[in-house]
Order: sequence, then structure tokens, then C-alpha cells
Amino acid sequence: MNVTLREVTQEDLPIFFEHQLDVEATRMAAFPSRDRDAFMAHWAKIMNKATNQTGMLNTILADDTVAGSVVYWEAAGDPNIGYWLGKTHWGKGIASAALAQFLTKIEARPVYAHVAKHNFASIRVLQKCGFQPSRAERGDGNAGEELVMELCSDRCATVAKNST
Ligand SMILES: CC(C)(COP(=O)(O)OP(=O)(O)OC[C@H]1O[C@@H](n2cnc3c(N)ncnc32)[C@H](O)[C@@H]1OP(=O)(O)O)[C@@H](O)C(=O)NCCC(=O)NCCS
Repeated sequence: MNVTLREVTQEDLPIFFEHQLDVEATRMAAFPSRDRDAFMAHWAKIMNKATNQTGMLNTILADDTVAGSVVYWEAAGDPNIGYWLGKTHWGKGIASAALAQFLTKIEARPVYAHVAKHNFASIRVLQKCGFQPSRAERGDGNAGEELVMELCSDRCATVAKNST
């Protein structure tokens, strides 16, 4: 399986939309699915380079198939990453490989990931890429307790070395 990244295109959005409708995925991430209009409006906003100058949005390809997305954004001065894969692509090492590659493109350190405390697969992906637990926080809405995981600069060299 060859995992690669490229910029998100409009054609990817209906696929991402389907991915985030999955009930098990929304439970894992403790993040509710959006209806089509809200989903497309959100992506239109973050894909607008005039208003989102610092973000980076990548599509994850497993061989030639769109498997999901991995994104970087800044919120209240904090650099953050997030990712979402379609269920048929889970359990094959794709998120771990994609995040390791993505982190070589992101210069900001520390960089953070907010993850639901029960999302063991995602916590494992982050740990494999060098993130460590930083603090616990109350999530937005019904998200419950979330763990803030942090990748610091002293880990960057390790991540870059392991992903080449
Ligand atoms: C979380 C998610 C990205 C994982 O993607 P993936 O491609 O299946 O992840 P990988 O295969 O790269 O790695 C998963 C790791 O978690 C482990 N894992 C999976 N389920 C687990 C569980 N219940 N408990 C502990 N570890 C678990 C796997 O064994 C693997 O670790 P290993 O390589 O040491 O064996 C994917 O399930 C997803 O998109 N979920 C819905 C959205 C989401 O939760 N996004 C993240 C929000 S923070």
C-alpha cells in the first residue's frame, strides 16, 4: 500500500462528506457529522486561501484511492492538526503513515492534536508520530473530556528520520 498526500480538490469533498457520516467514526472522534450544506460551507471556508492563509489541507491517497484527509490550522494562536479516514481504510497503517508525512511539511512546533479520551486508535497514531499527552480539556459541545496531545521540537528530528 502506497500512502501519499496531495492538496485537497473540490472532487474530494463528496468523498470526505460520506466519511464523516459514519456513526462509528463520529462516536470515535466525539465530533458530530455535518449535513451536506454545513459540510460544504465549512470546506469552502477553510479552502479559501484569502481567509485561511496559514492552513494546510491534504488528501490522503492509499495507492490511487482517496482514503481521507489530514489538515493543519491555527486556532487562538495554537497550531493544530487533525485527520479523518473513511472506515473501509481503517486498520491498515494509513493514518500513521499519512500523519508522519504531513508532519514533515509543517514547521510549527509545538503542534497540537485534540483527541477524545476514548479514541485509542487516534491516540496510538499520534504516539507513533511522537506526540505526547500535554493536558486534558473539556471539549466543545458534547465532546466530553479530550486529551490535548503535543509534538515538541525535540521530537521533530525523530519523526522526520523515521518517515524517510
Ligand atoms: C483514528 C483513525 C484516523 C485511525 O486510522 P487508521 O488508519 O486505522 O490508523 P493506523 O492503522 O495508522 O493505526 C492505528 C493504531 O491504533 C491501534 N488501535 C486501533 N484500535 C485500537 C484500540 N481500540 N485500542 C488501542 N489501539 C488501537 C492500531 O493497532 C494501530 O496501532 P499499531 O500500528 O501499533 O498496531 C481512523 O479510525 C479514523 O479516521 N477515525 C474516525 C475519525 C477520527 O477519529 N479522527 C481522529 C480525530 S482526533
